[in-house]
Amino acid sequence: MTAACECRDVSKWFDGLSVLDHVDLEVPEGAFVTIIGPSGCGKTTLLRAMAGLTGVDAGEIKIGGRTVMGPPEGVAMVFQGSGLMPWKTIYDNVAFGLVVAGRSRREIGQTVPRFIEKVNLTGYERLYPYQVSGGMRQRAGLARALAVDPSVLLMDEPFASVDAQTREVLHDELLTIWERERKSVVFVTHSIDEAIVLSDVVVVMSRRPARVTGLIEVDIPRPRRERTVRGHPRYADIRERCWELLEEARHGDQP
Ligand SMILES: Nc1ncnc2c1ncn2[C@@H]1O[C@H](COP(=O)(O)OP(=O)(O)O)[C@@H](O)[C@H]1O
Ligand SMILES: [Mg+2]
Repeated sequence: MTAACECRDVSKWFDGLSVLDHVDLEVPEGAFVTIIGPSGCGKTTLLRAMAGLTGVDAGEIKIGGRTVMGPPEGVAMVFQGSGLMPWKTIYDNVAFGLVVAGRSRREIGQTVPRFIEKVNLTGYERLYPYQVSGGMRQRAGLARALAVDPSVLLMDEPFASVDAQTREVLHDELLTIWERERKSVVFVTHSIDEAIVLSDVVVVMSRRPARVTGLIEVDIPRPRRERTVRGHPRYADIRERCWELLEEARHGDQP
């Protein structure tokens, strides 16, 4: 089976600064894969490279079996700040990807309310981003990404800037949506707990230049909710394993 996303021996430099170092990563179709790693190691760079927003200097990234040369079809991204346009309403922000894709007015009119409902924003369509909470902005960013029906969803620390309680609610909402839609997801976070709660596989990256230092399978059954995952007998073990790998990644040999 073709992987949804495949990185083969990917390296990247910024003006002589080595950021990605022989990264190999495979995201199976329909899997939820989360990347954790120290701040500044190259996680966003890797995600941007997958989205075709930046090139790589060596190796190859494939989405749906095709080498990424520019922004590939079927890939949508959710950014750390919501990435919403402040001059557009929540409705128009969610519609944006569909408008850019040249979908008909009729299709847009049918699709947007459906996704606004999915992320629990019904009733807030006419408000502007500054008029809603951070959690609601992230929901709108997710709805905008999902509305184009991507085959691969890239999420870069989407919940990093919301408070802990809201984050828990958003985790459960994302789990519910994902369990229904089964998109292939690459999710970036620096939170081990967030990684375990959401993913099938946790990928640990080293500090810069980022290499993949380990993969941890999260063998906790679905459907999941944040509290049931945290209460699962496997949770502590998996968490410990992540910590160990992340510690190794932080303190690995100086280049
Ligand atoms: N456009 C750029 N130009 C130069 N350096 C960059 C650029 N983007 C990122 N970097 C550098 O690459 C490294 C990795 O950044 P990033 O991928 O954002 O890390 P992370 O998302 O893991 O925190 C950092 O040292 C950062 O300063
Ligand atoms: Mg980042």
